[in-house]
Amino acid sequence: MLKRERWPSKIIFIFAAVGSAVGLGNVWRFPYLAGKYGGGAFLIPYLLMLFILGIPLLIMEFAIGQKMQLGAVGSFGNIKGKLSGIGLSGVLSGFVVVSYYAVVMSWCLLYIIYSLTLKWGDNTKEFFFSNVLHMSESVDSIGFISVGILFALILVWAMIYFSVWKGVKSVGKVVLVTMPLPIILLLILLIRGVTLPGAMDGIIFYLKPNFEALLDLEVWSAAMSQIFFTLSLAFGIMIAYASYRHVESDIAKSAITISLVNSGISIIAGFTVFSTLGYMSLKSGVDISELAASGPALAFIVFPKALSLVPFAPFFAVLFFVMLITLGIDSAFSLVEAASTVISDRCPHLRRQDISLYVCVFGFLTGIIFTTFAGLHYLDIADHFITNYALVIVGLLEVLAVGWLYGADKLRDYINKVSDIKIGKWWEVLIKYIIPVFLVFLLVTTIHRDIMRPYEDYPHWALFVFGWLVVIVVLGASFIFSYFSKHEHRK
Ligand code: PHE
Repeated sequence: MLKRERWPSKIIFIFAAVGSAVGLGNVWRFPYLAGKYGGGAFLIPYLLMLFILGIPLLIMEFAIGQKMQLGAVGSFGNIKGKLSGIGLSGVLSGFVVVSYYAVVMSWCLLYIIYSLTLKWGDNTKEFFFSNVLHMSESVDSIGFISVGILFALILVWAMIYFSVWKGVKSVGKVVLVTMPLPIILLLILLIRGVTLPGAMDGIIFYLKPNFEALLDLEVWSAAMSQIFFTLSLAFGIMIAYASYRHVESDIAKSAITISLVNSGISIIAGFTVFSTLGYMSLKSGVDISELAASGPALAFIVFPKALSLVPFAPFFAVLFFVMLITLGIDSAFSLVEAASTVISDRCPHLRRQDISLYVCVFGFLTGIIFTTFAGLHYLDIADHFITNYALVIVGLLEVLAVGWLYGADKLRDYINKVSDIKIGKWWEVLIKYIIPVFLVFLLVTTIHRDIMRPYEDYPHWALFVFGWLVVIVVLGASFIFSYFSKHEHRK
């Protein structure tokens, strides 16, 4: 048996895990949710879910990976052979995510070039949809491939490949730059943002609570899925990363630190985004709530516009898109690592470079569908279904497997043996009872919502092909895999 690779140091492991957690979800998804669901009041469900769901689950994933010294498939396979499918479904879901995440990064890459001349002009919306995406009128017509995006996508995948090609050895070096750099850029943009006229109005909008929103169940389910997404849970990433640590490494303190840093950055990103929107609202006369509600368009439509109003616009625009791409890259390659780890556990004779190459080429090829003229629609649907169904189901199966089959008490004993901070019995209660109930609730409310009204009113065929079918294939393949798996107990 080959010796398992190791992180060069504890701090580099923390950098890599923070790098995975902190991504587009912090700077773009979180502020948008906060704006949509009651400003400051969204922080209440968000923080509650961080403590009830996020931190306990991160502790669990770290513990499982570190204890078993294997990626997600092997770790669950070690609990019971037939459970290996749980790990596989997480990794396959992550694979779908990285195939479109890389496409969003390729837009960022193009926008770095556009920033130099503020090429988007006055109508940033028209520019994004027509000139960049060549978006088709409806989801029914796939059109052609946008060549510019395709080239950018090749570059993005080359960057991802060279970050991971030697596994944790190369990841350990790359994260030294890709973790801190975007945070520094975010702070520069924060200072720029809060010193603009009108910034205060934006910040008030961000922080002023609308307590009525708390009565809306949708807010709570949005907070839950955001916590899942932002901490990169259930994709097998944190399990894979932890498996490259020594069995005696500290778990609880690392998980708590990473979670708090990640949410801290989301909250800071909120200040940056809303202060800039406050300025834009002052300049353009458009209401802040309208600007904030633009959702995914925030980064490519509202922000380019806002930044072009600021003095030294090209400079700040370049900073913004360099920030997005460096934010995204370590999240993207963490997904590749989760998959490569699983393959490498199974086929130790394959060279790591080759495994990384296969995963990257395959990810690139899958992503091509999202570079077509209808790509944004497909991306939106795939994202909705993977994050709202596949992940929640994987998360649920994970806690049930650990809580009831492996034994939450046994895992807690292990965590407390190696950790500086000791966790109490409450953790077992959360893993065995409370988190499963919350996840079932999340699943039921989303299914109910999607049945009452098809997601974003997309046609049924599109929701089926890019949504349900993707989820069915991911879960079905894992189920079949499980069925044929043997019990390979090693620990
Ligand atoms: N956690 C990342 C973010 O917030 C997203 C991500 C999800 C990264 C899943 C990897 C895997 O943007």
